[in-house]
Amino acid sequence: MTSTTKRIAVIPGDGIGKEVIPAALKVIEASGAAVDFTHFDWGADRYLADGTTVPPDGFATLARDFEAIFLGAFGDPRVKSNIHAKEILLGMRFKMDLYANVRPVRLLEASLCPLKGIEPADIDFVVIRENTEGAYVDSGGIFKQGTSDEIAVQEDINTRKGVERIIRFAFEYCKSEKKADGSARSRVLLCDKSNAMTYAGSLWQRVFKEVSAEYPQFKAEHMYVDALCTQMVRDPRQFDVIVTNNMFGDIISDLGAGLQGGLGMAASGNIHPGKTSMFEPVHGSAPPLAGQNVANPIGSILTAAMMLRHLGFTTQSSRIEAAVLEAVRQKQTTADVGGGLGTRESAEWIASRIARS
Ligand code: NAD
Ligand code: IPM
Ligand code: MN
Repeated sequence: MTSTTKRIAVIPGDGIGKEVIPAALKVIEASGAAVDFTHFDWGADRYLADGTTVPPDGFATLARDFEAIFLGAFGDPRVKSNIHAKEILLGMRFKMDLYANVRPVRLLEASLCPLKGIEPADIDFVVIRENTEGAYVDSGGIFKQGTSDEIAVQEDINTRKGVERIIRFAFEYCKSEKKADGSARSRVLLCDKSNAMTYAGSLWQRVFKEVSAEYPQFKAEHMYVDALCTQMVRDPRQFDVIVTNNMFGDIISDLGAGLQGGLGMAASGNIHPGKTSMFEPVHGSAPPLAGQNVANPIGSILTAAMMLRHLGFTTQSSRIEAAVLEAVRQKQTTADVGGGLGTRESAEWIASRIARS
């Protein structure tokens, strides 16, 4: 390991995470990036064996000893409470303060899009999802459980600091990140539900107005989340950078995954600039597919490319993206995106393509 080698913590997790992550590691190796992997067994098996979700000092170790975390998915039918997923995945996002969940929506080939008449150049936008607060903070409670008077309260927490930093992140992303065709980004759209959720909505609206004034070169737009869902299906060409809260970001990024060929194609990064960040495919552990070598590894491979770019391996990242594009065009993929390969074979095809490039 040289001084420029980047240390990556690898946490495949559950279900198809245990297949797509090892497959993507082969592609990273083929890219020639100077990285060193350390494997962690956090997930349902470990939890069921010894009760551990996150070992003591787990997050502190990740922050101290690694430049990035490459994560699969959490969720296992044997763990009905989903406690391990909550403590590992949401715990990591919250406790490591990975406040920006960056979820690109990019169409690689027209045939992958369920919409008519859409070309790859028409879909290249990004969802910037607030990742540390909102309805996900677990504030609230259940009272009189099991009685006819039962009350469940789930509070939506929005802090001035949290809202401001994610909106600023979205404008900075607009400034620094180009579209796949090399053109500049130019618009940031706030997605909220300020017509019904007026307190939180008011805060997001006011902060968006203030922060957008600092970036007069970009068009600042707004859409209610319900209308946005229709527009994403009717005319996805109009979107560029979308910034939104935790829950709306979760939902619209799955809708975005649908536009690019399904959950097997979608990548994400959980980022705090300057801190150890985490990269994971958007999809979950997909229990019905697990253990059959059928899951699409491309979401994880594009996630790996995002991670490498974040770590400064620009050339290697571009080589991976180019090889994925070639695989999709030649249908050297898993069945969900039109090919006939298994998980491992799909990744091996991409890795061998890189080796020859
Ligand atoms: P999911 O994303 O796991 O799967 C939904 C469906 O999408 C699958 O049945 C499959 O048809 C398709 N799919 C997903 N990934 C695919 C891939 N790589 N290749 C091909 N097809 C793919 O969502 P779910 O079924 O709602 O959730 C299953 C479990 O995963 C739950 O426990 C859930 O909480 C968890 N989950 C975890 C994460 C995460 O760890 N980041 C994300 C979402 C869901
Ligand atoms: C995601 C997932 C998670 C989320 C779940 C598993 C808690 O759906 O990463 O999109 O809602 O954030
Ligand atoms: Mn989700």
